[in-house]
Amino acid sequence: MSQETVVIREVMLRDGLQNIAEFIPTPVKVGIYERLIQSGIRDVEFTSFVNPKAIPQFQDAGEFARTVIALKPRDAIASALVPNLKGAQMALESGVRSLVFVMSVSESHNINNVRRTQAESVSEAKKILEMRKTYPELTVKISLATVFGCPFEGKIEPAVTLKFVREFYQLGFRDISLADTVGYGNPRQIREVCRLCFEEFPEVPFGIHLHNTRGLGLANSFAAYEAGVRIIDGAVGGLGGCPFAPGASGNTSTEDLVFMFEEMGINTGIDMKTLLEVSAFFQSTKRDVCFTSSILKVGLPAPRGAIGKDGSAQVWNA
Ligand code: COA
Ligand code: ZN
Repeated sequence: MSQETVVIREVMLRDGLQNIAEFIPTPVKVGIYERLIQSGIRDVEFTSFVNPKAIPQFQDAGEFARTVIALKPRDAIASALVPNLKGAQMALESGVRSLVFVMSVSESHNINNVRRTQAESVSEAKKILEMRKTYPELTVKISLATVFGCPFEGKIEPAVTLKFVREFYQLGFRDISLADTVGYGNPRQIREVCRLCFEEFPEVPFGIHLHNTRGLGLANSFAAYEAGVRIIDGAVGGLGGCPFAPGASGNTSTEDLVFMFEEMGINTGIDMKTLLEVSAFFQSTKRDVCFTSSILKVGLPAPRGAIGKDGSAQVWNA
């Protein structure tokens, strides 16, 4: 087996479902979670503790969290997104110990998304980290949104991102993810920002969260990998998008990421056949769900040698 590995962090239950208006019943979410775990995925961001008036999809966050925490294998991470202190308190009360705190590096998107200035967000993040006094197992990932471009402010200079990375680092955060919320990034830009981050903070295992809005999700993911990133977000089926960012669309598809890395001999620990059962199960409960994953559209390549009699390439839809 290859020595090279990458963690594909699954965000379909959070980022994917937040863009679906119709409420997905909790038992369906549980079925998705169970199948993700069966496929070998070990890092799942499964819900969001947000105002249910802002995102009704997560009105069941507490109930779903208790089920997930009970089901979660010991070696798995089950995290929830929180936009503020209240969300963190609710998540902790539901048994979640792995939080993802979101803040945009552009002020206007932060205000649009979480109705807070960046200074207010930083101050709440600090209070959340202090909750480790009560919950010693608590981990908090900082998810920096709009790092590679903002729907309101356009281009974002790497220096802006580095300023916030520095600020969170000084507050004690060691888990930071860089997000291309609206798919503005390109491979060279991703590589450069990641390089600058690793250069200044070599001990931080930076993760990346990329939207495939303009078709660059896989290229950008590979650029991040080449720059040293080993935690890459994906969403089953390529679902996803931020409802508070105009033009946002799906995440890079987990199936396509697993295919790309495994084909290159980089181990993901995920079994493709079992992974394909996640989307099949979801579609069996909701027929109109629209997947954008290439692997789901065309299937896996034929096993070596299985070329059709007429010379055409055959695909098999496992
Ligand atoms: N979870 C659940 N309810 C929350 C909450 C949370 N994290 N934070 C606040 N609330 C509730 C308050 O209790 C209050 O309820 P009430 O109307 O019944 O009294 C109401 O929301 C308003 O509280 P306030 O502190 O004024 O929050 P807000 O209106 O400024 O909303 C957010 C702030 C962040 C909670 C809200 O904008 C939100 O949930 N946004 C979603 C962001 C998101 O998920 N974006 C996509 C992912 S990046
Ligand atoms: Zn996202």
